[in-house]
Amino acid sequence: MTLLLGACAAPETLPSRHVAEPAPAVDLDPDPAVVAVSLVAEVAEVELDGRPVDAWAYRDAGGDAPASVPGPLLDVPAGALLRVSFENQLPESTTVHFHGVRLPNEMDGTDHTQPLVRPGDTFEYAFVVPDPATYWYHPHFSTPDQVWKGLYGAVRATGAPPELAADRVLVLSDTLLDDAGRVDVFDLETLRLGREGDTVLVGGQPAGGVLRVAASERWRIVNASVARFFTLALADRPLEVIGTDAGPVPEPWIADTLRVGPGDRVELQVALGPGDAVDLLALPTDRGDEVPVGDTVRLLTAVRDPGVPTASAPLPRTLPVTATGPSGGPATSRTVTLAEGVAPNGAPLFTVDGVPWPFETPYEIPLGATEEWDVVNTTAFDQTFHLHGFFFEVLSIDGAPPARRSLEDTAEVPRGATMRLRATFDVPGSWMFHTHVLDHAELGLMSHLHVE
Ligand code: C2O
Ligand code: CU
Repeated sequence: MTLLLGACAAPETLPSRHVAEPAPAVDLDPDPAVVAVSLVAEVAEVELDGRPVDAWAYRDAGGDAPASVPGPLLDVPAGALLRVSFENQLPESTTVHFHGVRLPNEMDGTDHTQPLVRPGDTFEYAFVVPDPATYWYHPHFSTPDQVWKGLYGAVRATGAPPELAADRVLVLSDTLLDDAGRVDVFDLETLRLGREGDTVLVGGQPAGGVLRVAASERWRIVNASVARFFTLALADRPLEVIGTDAGPVPEPWIADTLRVGPGDRVELQVALGPGDAVDLLALPTDRGDEVPVGDTVRLLTAVRDPGVPTASAPLPRTLPVTATGPSGGPATSRTVTLAEGVAPNGAPLFTVDGVPWPFETPYEIPLGATEEWDVVNTTAFDQTFHLHGFFFEVLSIDGAPPARRSLEDTAEVPRGATMRLRATFDVPGSWMFHTHVLDHAELGLMSHLHVE
């Protein structure tokens, strides 16, 4: 890996802007086992890079902060009940999906599990967040457009004891601005590639801010982009991975670079000595077809600041896996084929097993069954494969086991590759699975299954 910035950035070269971090929503319930928040989706003007931009955004109606992109951080101790009283003040129907959380099917926030929340309507979400991990929330209706307009936020489920000092949530995304504001309309070829903006955002503001950090920190990184993949690297040292979608991994590992596709999350531990500074970079990323690989983007510069409180105890080097993985029993095999096609009218189209959403026939899976899926990506694009409601283990990519075992709800399937995964379907209901390249999902690369 190349050294793009020395270990000690000269202070005068530091950007003056601070990295934006989402503010937590106010918990309206005094019971420590219940977190109750009041969330409104509305048309709002948000400040982006110092100028007002029209957005669709979430607002914490239980606090006095204005609507923001990303939306308020939902902070919940793992094991607690999360109640979200949601009100739709948008001019369009929506839902709220809590991506990654293992929850009862009727709380999954899709049009398979609830009526659409129409303009002016409300919906009460309430479910236990069982596993300490980093999740996010977003609409599950007209998803690419609504996410693009600004509807996304992070969920931080903390372990016991919750240690929030030096625990940060960094929401990555991108946007495309012109003089009139955010560009919202795209031609079909752009949607076929998956829309990307020319401005990479960290916490809803242009990349490149400064983050004053403690000696040792946990960074929870969420990729909330519609289609952009990030290849993360630290400028002068490797990344230390301490968590994936399902939370802490049994053994942290070191990586020079890490690809984080749309919908995916990763937890890093970052340690800086006195006077130390380091850049978090997004390297040029090839995700297939005609998509430009782009240039290196400096996401942020972290600067050790003795005034920033560090965690009272160092993060444990080895953390227990609390989430349930697939059972070790016999498994049913299934092949899931992701493909690109063309609609009769010539428009781009994507399919699962040859059929575009919403015309699919759901997989019927007996309650409690363990299955192994070969997810075959025949498209010309890398995809992030996302399964609602369950964590899965990636067994292999093109027959080769991954270097590390982890539990995921979203995992990259490179173009032309086959990912074998294993999951146990132990919660009944109607669960979706799809690519998280959201334009491809909306163009048909989405399906669902019934567990009963
Ligand atoms: Cu992040 Cu079906 O969703
Ligand atoms: Cu999801």
